[in-house]
Amino acid sequence: MRQREHLTPYGNKPMVTPIVSAVNYEYVSFEILRQITDGEIDGYTYHRDDNPTVRAVEKEIALMEKAADCVICTTGMAALTMVFLTYLKAGDNLLTFHDVYGANYKVSLILEKFGVEVTWLNATDHDKIAENIKSNTKMIFCETPSNPLVKIVDIKHLRKLADSVGAMLVVDNTFATPYHQLPLTLGADLVVHSATKGLGGHNDLMAGAIACSNKEHYDELWFTRQAIGTTLDPFPASLLERGLKTFEIRAAKMAENAMAIAEFLSKHPKITRICYPGLKDDAGYEIASKQMKNGFGGVLAFDVGQTQSQAKEFVEKLNVIYHAVSLGCTETLVCLPVLTTMLYLPEERRTIFGVKPNTVRLSAGIEDTKELLADLKQALD
Ligand SMILES: Cc1ncc(COP(=O)(O)O)c(C=O)c1O
Repeated sequence: MRQREHLTPYGNKPMVTPIVSAVNYEYVSFEILRQITDGEIDGYTYHRDDNPTVRAVEKEIALMEKAADCVICTTGMAALTMVFLTYLKAGDNLLTFHDVYGANYKVSLILEKFGVEVTWLNATDHDKIAENIKSNTKMIFCETPSNPLVKIVDIKHLRKLADSVGAMLVVDNTFATPYHQLPLTLGADLVVHSATKGLGGHNDLMAGAIACSNKEHYDELWFTRQAIGTTLDPFPASLLERGLKTFEIRAAKMAENAMAIAEFLSKHPKITRICYPGLKDDAGYEIASKQMKNGFGGVLAFDVGQTQSQAKEFVEKLNVIYHAVSLGCTETLVCLPVLTTMLYLPEERRTIFGVKPNTVRLSAGIEDTKELLADLKQALD
């Protein structure tokens, strides 16, 4: 941690940011109420405003994403909702893509209730995107790689399109993580994370993060969080700080395992489709090679045979790999998106997505590669 700030009476710094569970702080003087310190606005007064444990992690993630600053909140969906609430109003158009995490569809229904118009497109259809950019398009929001088919979106291209109408560009970097991709350096205004995933990494905390390209965005999002009360508790913040200490080593191993698994599955006769941007014949390979680094991330998707029962049988035979939702953690996980993250999407939206009843999403963990390949082989053969 480069952000340790809490001194002992002798000036020594603790190796871990202390968990400050205080809801409120005793004012040392009326002066403090007017004090404006860098980033801390009013100093620490009430937990919904700010918390030192949370603040230390925000600074750490800002460094990782090459951001001016970062706002942390309770979950990834809270982070996305905060972004939409802060920057969209009735009459504005949000341009987004079929290939985003399923719960965004639910959020879009709420936004529509407040008069925001939401346009859903195929992220790889550049002509259609250009055609659908309108004077009221205020935000373009994408995931790359996307959940669950790991499709790749050209961030620099979207930046140009957004600039044509002065729209913001928001990128969900949960799948790539800052180890593989830095969207702010490619033109994004904001980067959103479900920190529940790779940044936390151990299936033991929920958090969201918004990395901001400038201080104004930090202030605006801080205002929303303070108003609606999505501030993270210090206990998950401390777990997140611990996760970040091993983040790069975990991300490297997850990407190595995902690549080995993708190569193995791409040659297996029972696998009828494989999606992983690290494979040379994947539709996203060319752009991913330019905008990602250190490999292509830890998540892939594939179709088993032709039917859902074949995919279910495969999942049930796995011994080392777990059948569970979520991703980016120490254990390798698989799930069937149509039965989990996309369950509540209307049928036609699932079809547009390209996700099939027999599609499996796999999030590689940090286990021994050979052990994972052996488990997949015995479940398929
Ligand atoms: C890409 C992506 N963004 C956002 C979220 C939502 O995160 P959370 O579950 O922390 O709210 C998820 C959850 O799976 C996700 O995969």
